Amino acid sequence: MAISLRGLTKVYGTGAGAVKALDDITLEIPDGAIFGIIGQSGAGKSTLIRCVNLLERPSAGTVKVGEVDFTSLSGEALRQARKKVGMIFQSFNLLSRRTVFGNVALPLELAGWPKEDIRCRVAELLALVGLEGRRNHYPSQLSGGQKQRVGIARALANNPEVLLSDEATSALDPGTTRSILALLRDINEKLGLTILLITHEMQVVKEICHGVAVLEKGRIVEQGPVFDIFADPKERATRDMLGQDLDAELPESFAGLDFSREPLPGSDLVLRLRFFGDIAAEPVMCDLIRRFDLDVNILTAHIDHLRNMPYGTLVIGLSGEERQRQAALKALRALDLRVEVVGYVAKALRRAM
Ligand SMILES: Nc1ncnc2c1ncn2[C@@H]1O[C@H](COP(=O)(O)OP(=O)(O)OP(=O)(O)O)[C@@H](O)[C@H]1O
Ligand SMILES: [Mg+2]
Repeated sequence: MAISLRGLTKVYGTGAGAVKALDDITLEIPDGAIFGIIGQSGAGKSTLIRCVNLLERPSAGTVKVGEVDFTSLSGEALRQARKKVGMIFQSFNLLSRRTVFGNVALPLELAGWPKEDIRCRVAELLALVGLEGRRNHYPSQLSGGQKQRVGIARALANNPEVLLSDEATSALDPGTTRSILALLRDINEKLGLTILLITHEMQVVKEICHGVAVLEKGRIVEQGPVFDIFADPKERATRDMLGQDLDAELPESFAGLDFSREPLPGSDLVLRLRFFGDIAAEPVMCDLIRRFDLDVNILTAHIDHLRNMPYGTLVIGLSGEERQRQAALKALRALDLRVEVVGYVAKALRRAM
């Protein structure tokens, strides 16, 4: 189910001590998407996700899940509507005195399911999350990753259409994080579940999200498809979040150089190319050299992965005839690449570095 937030605002407290944790958030999360919200500590991420299922009542604005306006509901109607929304937590929130079976069965018991149906459903859920053999274990006998699998099974018990995840992998090591993210992706594909996850880790967004919004001081400063945000972050907050992922910087030896917009005699034309998916850099470069009779100098190259798809940045210097360089630039722009002209820089200068 789609999630639609309109003008969502949350103020904690009143008077001088009031804190505006969310400020006019409008966001559409399409049905079936894995959507990430990323932000620094205190940005309002937990508040936002808790407002989606009305664990926190917004001060203003509306939350719609599918066609249902959650903000108009309360009491029993809200409790019923919430069954469509499962939630998992950083700290797992398992009951230590219940077994794995007992934890997963809890929401079904609360919903009044018959015992036999509960047994079947829990077995199915434990198989889905890969915990068949752990049915009678207690949380204290499980690893962090296994605990989160129990949390996921419990969240899915009532067949929700939406899964909310509040930093579900933040307490896990990188390997376990990957396996939990793979499970979430699997669930998204198998069950068509819409997943809204919040995180402060860019890696999480890179591995599984389709779309992402950047939250800063209660406001969304940037949002879009994950690739667009990675390839071309517009806002300072986004660049800060990307941190070392911002691989698109120029080589250090270029720091402090003056790039000219006009071709100086004997200068290199420096281009930054960003590609996504199957465009392989090598044939593109060979083609430039061959077709346009240019020297192509690769200054930096970096390849990473988004949802298993390669993406990368290449900074190249072209030297040769200006007319040929412009023709090459045009050819590059026709490809499935983002091309940015950094500028012209004197060759002699670069050689001196
Ligand atoms: N129950 C509350 N009462 C008063 N202020 C609160 C409450 N919960 C959160 N806040 C404030 O709202 C702001 C946003 O907090 P929130 O927990 O949503 O941030 P967060 O992005 O989840 O941070 P973190 O990454 O540290 O979990 C913070 O300034 C916080 O102090
Ligand atoms: Mg939080």
